[in-house]
Amino acid sequence: MDSSGSATGAPAAAEVFASEAISTLPLATLEGRNVSAWFGERQVLDRVSLTMPAGIITSLIGPSGCGKSTFLRILNRMHELVPSASLAGQVLLDGEDIYDAERKLVDARKSIGMVFQKPNPFPSMSIYDNVIAGLTLTGTRASNAEKDFLVESCLTKAGLWREVRDRLRSPGSGLSGGQQQRLCIARSLAVTPRILLMDEPCSALDPTSTRVIEETMLELAHEVTIVIVTHNMQQAQRVSQNCAFFLAAQGTPGGIVEHGATEAMFNDPIDSRTADYVNGRFG
Ligand SMILES: Nc1ncnc2c1ncn2[C@@H]1O[C@H](COP(=O)(O)OP(=O)(O)O)[C@@H](O)[C@H]1O
Ligand SMILES: [Mg+2]
Repeated sequence: MDSSGSATGAPAAAEVFASEAISTLPLATLEGRNVSAWFGERQVLDRVSLTMPAGIITSLIGPSGCGKSTFLRILNRMHELVPSASLAGQVLLDGEDIYDAERKLVDARKSIGMVFQKPNPFPSMSIYDNVIAGLTLTGTRASNAEKDFLVESCLTKAGLWREVRDRLRSPGSGLSGGQQQRLCIARSLAVTPRILLMDEPCSALDPTSTRVIEETMLELAHEVTIVIVTHNMQQAQRVSQNCAFFLAAQGTPGGIVEHGATEAMFNDPIDSRTADYVNGRFG
């Protein structure tokens, strides 16, 4: 693998080539329309509608158990993996329903990537193989040179290249928690997602690693639409332009109380429940 250049200013030719090759898709908008969800008989989301605009970072906030993760999993068709789970409504990626009978599950997963709370690199795989793992899963063929380009490009975008360029063949599990999370981001990017969903991606990380991930997100927002669930109100304000506040009143399914520009949600919320939540009075 040619690793010259990128750590010292001017990007390597390989990096430029690869980033052009994997970022030719325009930014996409994701929209949930009247999304409801059940586990068995129990309804956990009731007709949630939210547009997550192209190129914008949207944060989803709200107390535990109000359905944020469920909503996120519906957005990339992971909810249906739970045997008792069902759903209603539509999820539109640039206007096309990802649940349309003619569309394949694997297409939705490829277009809409997910990063989880706990970094989950494949522990026995090298850093290099972790990044390209998605190619196999989605049936994408690539030459060794293309893989090299992809690995360098995705690790660069995830803000990890400089730290791991000399140990690409060591196991991903040898990295720190924050590095592992950036490796997972790189792995998500390798299949050219249009949308990146992140479910509390920093909640297992220290403040320094958290800030590095936040900087990575802000960089990535130029090429992929990001939706992040966070419990950290400061984080929502630092990274997101739009915000949606989810709430489930006792014994009722979750829904969105209020959504809009993050600044307005925090400084001038319309609903008193939003004001109470963003000011830390519950949750
Ligand atoms: N696999 C599951 N089986 C049954 N109930 C679940 C499952 N996952 C989540 N739930 C329930 O659905 C509700 C919403 O959960 P979740 O989407 O994880 O909320 P949040 O991410 O906002 O904390 C909760 O009451 C939770 O207990
Ligand atoms: Mg959750």
